[in-house]
Amino acid sequence: MSLRSLSSVRVRAAIGVGVLVVLVFAFRGGAARTVQGGQGDVARGEYLANSVAMCVQCHSPRDARGNILAGEKFTGAPIPVRGPEWAGQWAYRAPAIAGLHGFTDDQIVMLLTEGHLGDRPAPSRPMPPFRMNKQDAEAIVAYLRTR
Ligand code: HEC
Repeated sequence: MSLRSLSSVRVRAAIGVGVLVVLVFAFRGGAARTVQGGQGDVARGEYLANSVAMCVQCHSPRDARGNILAGEKFTGAPIPVRGPEWAGQWAYRAPAIAGLHGFTDDQIVMLLTEGHLGDRPAPSRPMPPFRMNKQDAEAIVAYLRTR
């Protein structure tokens, strides 16, 4: 084998490996995008549910000092206050939403984008009538499914 053909074999091998690396990364990137698009962005959902929409504040039990019990976030909690006259129907318990058991993704997305869940009546106050965009609602669903 001449020096020239040897180097062209090396070049071809190098190109082959390069293409393989690109394909592997493209595939992995594609898979990650599918998870984000189809089921929502879990990290964003965590941020929204804990720090923006504050689901955690009503749906988690607390100790006697009012600190949310870290290991029991989103497992449901009493609402220990009465609502104002104008609120009409008032709920004294926020249900467990960790894992969103018993709900489909579409139901929760509808609840968070339109304020009610399918043909069921809207939840009573103090559950807020959320009007999120679909992407944020899907992110919260994805996050709560991990809880
Ligand atoms: C201010 C308190 C409060 C906040 C904040 C809150 N919730 Fe609620 N949520 C409630 C209460 C109370 C109920 C029970 C309503 C009822 O029984 O009619 C409820 C009910 C629900 C239900 C059940 C609905 C049904 O029809 O069965 C889901 C799901 C839910 N909340 C999800 C969330 C999510 C997700 C967030 C954050 C984006 C959130 N909640 C924020 C108080 C709250």
